[in-house]
Amino acid sequence: MSFYTLITGASTGIGRRLAEEFASMGDNLVLVARSQDKLETLAAELRRSCGIEVQVCCQDLAEVGAALKVFGFCEERGLPIDKLVNCAGFSIAGNFERMDEETFVQMVLVNMVAVAALTRRFLPAMRARRRGVVINIASLAGFQGVPGMAGYSASKAFVVNLTEALSVELQGTGVRIFAVCPSFLDNDLFYSRAGHDRSRIVTPVSSPEVVVKAVHRGLDGKQVLILPTVLDRLMVFVQRFTPRKIVVLLADIFAGARERGGSNG
Ligand SMILES: NC(=O)c1ccc[n+]([C@@H]2O[C@H](COP(=O)([O-])OP(=O)(O)OC[C@H]3O[C@@H](n4cnc5c(N)ncnc54)[C@H](OP(=O)(O)O)[C@@H]3O)[C@@H](O)[C@H]2O)c1
Repeated sequence: MSFYTLITGASTGIGRRLAEEFASMGDNLVLVARSQDKLETLAAELRRSCGIEVQVCCQDLAEVGAALKVFGFCEERGLPIDKLVNCAGFSIAGNFERMDEETFVQMVLVNMVAVAALTRRFLPAMRARRRGVVINIASLAGFQGVPGMAGYSASKAFVVNLTEALSVELQGTGVRIFAVCPSFLDNDLFYSRAGHDRSRIVTPVSSPEVVVKAVHRGLDGKQVLILPTVLDRLMVFVQRFTPRKIVVLLADIFAGARERGGSNG
């Protein structure tokens, strides 16, 4: 049987980079996102350069029932998924009560509901085959509330907790789950979509390559929550000895995502 790696958010940024990486490892792919043209172009490139099978599933993950549609797409075409990479996601910067409600609901649907629903759909077959891995792209923002990114940090905390809990539920099944939790990455599209002024970010911004390396660490090891850089690991380690109030204040300074001063503050 030839297996497939399904990657959500494969049209740009980290998801696209992970698609290239899995293709270079010889994995067949199912690419999911809304931008059909970008996915088709990438699929053609990867078929040509890596000689793999690539299927394009154009789907808005903020639609109700999106996970079922993606699952149905794979079922109809007989594509067994042995790696599920939940990468699609976006952030919204700014003060919580000023956030556009429709965009906020879409973020919940993409960052949380789709991740959980896709995992639920694809896990049973992985368990039955005693083979598979779920890779969630979470964030360091999921380790504490981040002022100015309240909804986003909460959505990534959901992914972190879901991953931790499922890693225990899956023990002894032959199926693994892990989450990669990067800090800020060099991807201007992510910041422009979020309305986040990148120049206000105080911590170093890493190359997306750190995520690729972290995914390899996850595939090769047994870690459940993977912090890509030394600084990411240090920041989470220091949290153990630091009052939560200070941790959140530091996150506020580091992210620079909150509106400050005047009537916005
Ligand atoms: N960049 C960072 O600093 C950073 C740091 C930590 C964690 N992360 C996480 O890494 C993941 C990827 O982010 P990125 O930096 O690669 O951002 P990006 O370049 O903006 O990519 C986001 C991807 O998600 C897809 N997506 C967004 N909304 C969607 C929807 N409604 N339905 C289907 N697909 C949707 C986009 O595709 P379409 O627009 O074509 O639908 C795109 O492929 C996200 O989960 C993000 O939270 C990013």
